[in-house]
Amino acid sequence: MSSVLTEREGHLAIITVNRREKLNALDHATVGDLQRTVEELAADQAVGAIILTGAGEKAFVAGADIAGLKGQGVLGGHANARHGQSLTQALEDSPKPVLCAINGFALGGGLEIALACDMRFASSNAKLGLPEVSLGIIPGYGGTQRLPRLIGMGMALEMILSGDHISADEALRIGLVNAVYAPEDLLLEVKKKAARMVSRGPQALAMAKQAARRGAELSLDEGLSLEADLFGMISSTEEMEEGLGAFLEKRKPSWLRS
Ligand code: COA
Repeated sequence: MSSVLTEREGHLAIITVNRREKLNALDHATVGDLQRTVEELAADQAVGAIILTGAGEKAFVAGADIAGLKGQGVLGGHANARHGQSLTQALEDSPKPVLCAINGFALGGGLEIALACDMRFASSNAKLGLPEVSLGIIPGYGGTQRLPRLIGMGMALEMILSGDHISADEALRIGLVNAVYAPEDLLLEVKKKAARMVSRGPQALAMAKQAARRGAELSLDEGLSLEADLFGMISSTEEMEEGLGAFLEKRKPSWLRS
């Protein structure tokens, strides 16, 4: 049975990592199932936004499953890192907004998949960290690359090289999460945020995300050129006609979601 649960609420898809007895640690199969789920939802026109969370009150995801790392060797280690990285890439590349609800420990691979989401929201009891160096390994699901890009090199290296956990409030202070909520309010608040996004134009969301995501890897000149190209593309869509028309006719837009 898969450890990845998917629920639908209207145009919202909620993915829950469900290995409670191991604090939702990611074994090889769970990483693969998560990636397949994220890719299927990306291709589903009826899905407007995705929320990623963990089962139970204690953990979002307490990391890669440590038992699966022992004795992995050079090739196994490389393959394990690539396996996790293709999941994080799928999250980042999804054309839908991906919101992470961090409902407890987000450690190692758990924090790394959160980093690949578009936004992170934490419960006040959450603890976040990259403890890999305390296990004699390094982050391998993109943490050494995405954390410095998100919070800056100094803060990121303090987390990566200390291996320490930080609190939700500290994560908010350094820009690692967007907001902190009481544990009982977290999912509801994240659903409210997602619902706002789902009410917007689906192609506009995908192109705006692409412009910001891809543009962050480019020079300003190249990024502006990408933005103009995407602006041109969105200007040829029925969605634009509907969005602008609805404003001018003082009515709510009706988006094509199949
Ligand atoms: N991989 C495999 N199993 C894990 C795990 C992980 N990353 N994190 C937790 N578990 C398992 C524990 O081994 C334990 O299993 P058991 O009951 O069969 O012994 C179960 O989850 C509960 O964890 P436990 O350590 O008893 O809970 P705790 O409240 O005492 O501590 C943590 C919670 C998160 C601080 C602790 O589990 C921990 O440090 N986990 C590893 C975090 C980590 O280093 N992640 C990066 C991996 S690369």
